[in-house]
Amino acid sequence: MARAITPAELYVEIDEGRCPYILDVRNQDEYANWQIEGTKPVGMRNIPIWVAMEDSDTIAAEIPDDTVVVCAHGNGSGLLIEVLEDEGRPVRTLEGGTAAWAELLVPRPIEHLPAGMVGYQIARPAKACLSYLLGVPGGDCVVVDPARFAQPYIDLAAQHGMTITNVIDTHIHADHISGGPELAEKVGATYHVPLEDTAGGSVPWPNVPLGDGEIIDLGEVQVEALAIKMPGHTPGSVCVHIPGYLILTGDTVFVRGLGRPDLTGQASDLAAELFHTIHDRLAPLDRSTLVMPAHWTLMEEIGDDGMVQTTLAKIFESDLITEEDMERFIDEIVGTLPAAPDFYDTIRLVNAGQAATAEEIETLEIGKNQCAATTSI
Ligand SMILES: [Fe+2]
Repeated sequence: MARAITPAELYVEIDEGRCPYILDVRNQDEYANWQIEGTKPVGMRNIPIWVAMEDSDTIAAEIPDDTVVVCAHGNGSGLLIEVLEDEGRPVRTLEGGTAAWAELLVPRPIEHLPAGMVGYQIARPAKACLSYLLGVPGGDCVVVDPARFAQPYIDLAAQHGMTITNVIDTHIHADHISGGPELAEKVGATYHVPLEDTAGGSVPWPNVPLGDGEIIDLGEVQVEALAIKMPGHTPGSVCVHIPGYLILTGDTVFVRGLGRPDLTGQASDLAAELFHTIHDRLAPLDRSTLVMPAHWTLMEEIGDDGMVQTTLAKIFESDLITEEDMERFIDEIVGTLPAAPDFYDTIRLVNAGQAATAEEIETLEIGKNQCAATTSI
């Protein structure tokens, strides 16, 4: 009897170091573009399905028991595992394939919050994206940088009897399609996206740009959640700050990197803005503040507890962050920029309101984010 494993179950196995092996049977280009990646390394190889079906006896002799066979939608892997089982090898198929893995969201509770609040860091392993939900049980909550699937956020809020009243995109994303407008519409929340990122607010859905230092009202408890302007990755980037606790830095600062300043085509200008953001806006904040970004790039950025976070104190140990010569900072950032994926411009346009079909959106979203300029801080 063929066995299946869901993306959520596979994530847990990887996280607990129990996943024995992954056999990815997509074609070589698809595999080169991105692979299943969780919080821990896993043995893995790529053998395209047509090769694997022919060499099934050799493969059966080489792979460990309970290997997970992965394809794009779970069809080819389903056929292969039947063949491998006939060869006497107990294996599993990833239900829904990489397409289902691409939709997996994993919420982890945030411990360090003001009394009376709950919060989650919500990882999307396929894209190495992080979104957040912060709120007051029985009251209001805010969702920051949501992935394009509204229901998990609605369900998470409902678990705590919370109403999503505000949905914030810290910037116009270039690596993934935002779920912000749809989520806000579904739950009747206010959607916020920076004015400077949208040619003066020209997006086809209701939106209220957040001003610098604006308080995000969570109603029932007096929590000072502030939107702080942090231009650099984009002209209008904002961070959400709960003083004394945490700052959601979007793509401005990552655990081991800085957001790339070239995606809107003005790399040097925005690198200069990033320099000022670091020195004038981040540096004065309490250094014990937890930094929670919108992405990770390296697996090393994920803690043993699965959280992607650091402190401002750690960030400010970096030579690049503390570089006081702006020109040297700009040269270092701009001079080492990796090439940006060419479809990032299209994603930005879709996030600013350009129509796209469901199929186009799925294709545009393939692959891990490439939003970091450097991972050396
Ligand atoms: Fe990003």
